[in-house]
Amino acid sequence: MNGVKISAVGHYAPAAILTNEDLEKTLDTSDEWITTRTGMKRRHIASEDQATSDLCIAAARNALRNGKLASSDIDCYIVATSTPDYAFPATACIVAAQLDAVGKPAFDMEIACSGFIYGLTLASSLIRAGVYSRVMLIGAESLSKIVDRSDRSTAILFGDGAGAVVLEAAAENSFLSSELGADGRRPETLCLLGGGSRRPFTAESLEAGEQYLRMEGREIFKFAVTKMIESTGIALQRANLKKSDVSWLIPHQANKRIIDAAAKYLEVPEERVIVNIEEYGNTSAASIPIALSEAVTAGKIKAGDIIVFVGFGGGLSWGAVTWKWA
Ligand code: ACO
Repeated sequence: MNGVKISAVGHYAPAAILTNEDLEKTLDTSDEWITTRTGMKRRHIASEDQATSDLCIAAARNALRNGKLASSDIDCYIVATSTPDYAFPATACIVAAQLDAVGKPAFDMEIACSGFIYGLTLASSLIRAGVYSRVMLIGAESLSKIVDRSDRSTAILFGDGAGAVVLEAAAENSFLSSELGADGRRPETLCLLGGGSRRPFTAESLEAGEQYLRMEGREIFKFAVTKMIESTGIALQRANLKKSDVSWLIPHQANKRIIDAAAKYLEVPEERVIVNIEEYGNTSAASIPIALSEAVTAGKIKAGDIIVFVGFGGGLSWGAVTWKWA
């Protein structure tokens, strides 16, 4: 067996909801602006005592239940996140321990919103190489903890949540191709400036707001559309697939206009694009696995369907994976 398949999915979003109307009360913005510019209506927000590992654990438990699996059936735990519980140790270690899987390998991947696409490539490769038989991959974020609530250009965009998939060895191979890329020449285009080894927190840096996410929105918008189209094209070509073979496009949910522009170019009709941005906003590394989990739970995705997962984000980074659903 040197194939891999996704055998179970699960997701979790915190109960508290932040609506466009809520944002209108604290910022110089409007439901109309947010809806037409982004497609967003609501975001789920973690409570003060909820960290990213808590969201991961809830999503992972749902995936284990859906797959009728015990946590000890998983050989390795991977968390893709840019909002870990701590700079170290890895959030995945905490997640595995809370799931009663102490001793299993567990590590984080930090490649911002591209985390799930990179993680899918890595986890599939580990399984296909025979290193592990079953891997839990979780994309999770608590972006509300690093958003400046007074900055209307970012405060409206981000939400919290987690999506989990169980990948396992299979006779038939679902992982058809991958195209990943990165360009770190201008990391500040989308970054959390403070708190790392380059700019450790000081009273001055906190005063300057370096604890908050920063983004050059217009730059990211152009980059996002270009890279989603390019990387999908390359991934399709590597798998010997045509645009018309695509059953489902599951894109990173950053902006409905970005998704529409990419889908139009890729000739994927609207009803074949999974979009849940209205409900969750941008949940970075969690957005694709939450969208997948919802689509599977709703019975949309059938055996044999060809899925394109495509994302982009901080780094800058991007990637697409083509997948045949088993
Ligand atoms: N409410 C009202 N007006 C606003 C708001 C707001 N929330 N935010 C910005 N504006 C104003 C601006 O000040 C500007 O006013 P001006 O014309 O008087 O200067 C005007 O609206 C237009 O601003 P733009 O930034 O040009 O608006 P744009 O149409 O580009 O939309 C947005 C902004 C939504 C951020 C868009 O650029 C975008 O989605 N970019 C990509 C962001 C992205 O994908 N980020 C995540 C990537 S990776 C990750 O997920 C972590």
